[in-house]
Amino acid sequence: MTQDTALIDATGTPEDAAAAPERKVFIKTYGCQMNVYDSGRMSDALASEGYVTTDDMEDADLVLLNTCHIREKAAEKVYSALGRLRETKKVRAAEGREFMIGVAGCVAQAEGDEIARREPAVDVVIGPQTYHRLPQALRRARIGERVVDTEYALEDKFEHLPDPTKTKGRVRSVTAFLTVQEGCDKFCTFCVVPYTRGSEVSRPLLQIVSEAEKLVADGVRELTLLGQNVNAWHGVDAAGRAIGLGDLLYRLAEIPGLARLRYTTSHPRDMDDRLIEAHRDLRMLMPYLHLPVQAGSDRILKAMNRRHKAAEYVALIERIRAARPDIALSGDFIVGFPGETDEDFRATLDLVETVGYAQAYSFKYSTRPGTPGADLPDHVPEEIKVERLARLQELLLKQQQEFSQSLIGRTIDLLLEKPGRLPGQLIGRSPWLQSVNVDANSSQIGDIINVRITAAGPNSLFAEVAEG
Ligand code: SAH
Ligand code: SF4
Ligand code: F3S
Repeated sequence: MTQDTALIDATGTPEDAAAAPERKVFIKTYGCQMNVYDSGRMSDALASEGYVTTDDMEDADLVLLNTCHIREKAAEKVYSALGRLRETKKVRAAEGREFMIGVAGCVAQAEGDEIARREPAVDVVIGPQTYHRLPQALRRARIGERVVDTEYALEDKFEHLPDPTKTKGRVRSVTAFLTVQEGCDKFCTFCVVPYTRGSEVSRPLLQIVSEAEKLVADGVRELTLLGQNVNAWHGVDAAGRAIGLGDLLYRLAEIPGLARLRYTTSHPRDMDDRLIEAHRDLRMLMPYLHLPVQAGSDRILKAMNRRHKAAEYVALIERIRAARPDIALSGDFIVGFPGETDEDFRATLDLVETVGYAQAYSFKYSTRPGTPGADLPDHVPEEIKVERLARLQELLLKQQQEFSQSLIGRTIDLLLEKPGRLPGQLIGRSPWLQSVNVDANSSQIGDIINVRITAAGPNSLFAEVAEG
């Protein structure tokens, strides 16, 4: 997943920490966009403690790993990174210089005590629901306590975090993530998220609108609403009426200066009529939808507890396409779920052929201890998973390239995000989240311009400014 769009980087001295010695934190973010957002908010929280962020680990007084537990490999990475940090800590101790190690995110939540036991060099373990307490945890650690704070906090962390636009010196961005919902109640049998992120919680409407307004006032033009299951978001409006994500999008679309809206990640079961209407009515809601299906076989979908059939997913896509014909689809797939036969796998390929994806992520099933999938019979041998993944990825890549090629010669809107590699070149995002290089001397970052696509590379598109 792209993680470079909204990293909030604190590189100044915040006023309220003028008296504290300046310290530097290096944050390494693993996993999904939610972790990217959380890393930004943690750096805001640390700024009030006198920390500025650095992208040079050698220079850091605190290294914070914001971790992901979704697949075995993701979790393993944390322990190998900690092994290396332990060595750095020894060197720093010999120099008499402070070096603290913190572990945050989903591995912290799932294996907090285990981390503390296996890796004595770790000073602080902090969960995704408690990271507003990071400054206090560090203070406690500095006087010798080893802190594991992964209880679900009773208080709302968002009420205790500093305004994300107020961290002095942060690198401003024209795109931002905004978490509106956390946790998941779906319990797909392969997935750790309901255990690491807890049950579904929606942030209140006013809190979201207020954060969105602050971000827009700070120069943000495109907002991506985040949630592990974002289309399960629900709230109440000023009249006390129950509302869902569709209504939230209509409300946010009223913010002057905001040009684009996106949201991710959605579950097919929660795509309600109002949300589909929002795709029909709101031009600023980008015509791009990440709607994971995971598999194309009804037998496997059932075993995964996805609670819908393949044909229902395809019918849903048809309704969404009828509402917004230029919408492009993205998805997630798992191959080699326990019991998956060649025939089941073929059903996944068939579904991909039927839907036609502009972009997708695909993974080999990874057994996660504690999830129901781990106890299922008939685990698929690794070599079959490898072979199926290669076949699926070949098809998905072909579709992605076809989609990119289909844009050549077309004029599209581009939100300019950052300078390109060559002078005069800028990089922007297409409505379909593709990265586009354009020579645009007279335009500025934050502008939305009309460009004509001239070529499609493997990872990005090329364009020229369209006249008129
Ligand atoms: N909330 C999102 C996705 C969360 S995790 C949703 O419901 O779709 C992101 C993706 O990781 C999932 O969509 C799934 O494709 C993949 N994933 C989750 N658990 C996995 C596992 N045990 N093995 C392999 N891939 C997994
Ligand atoms: Fe995991 Fe399923 Fe929830 Fe997505 S919907 S986070 S895959 S349990
Ligand atoms: Fe990973 Fe946690 Fe996100 S497990 S995918 S970082 S919600």
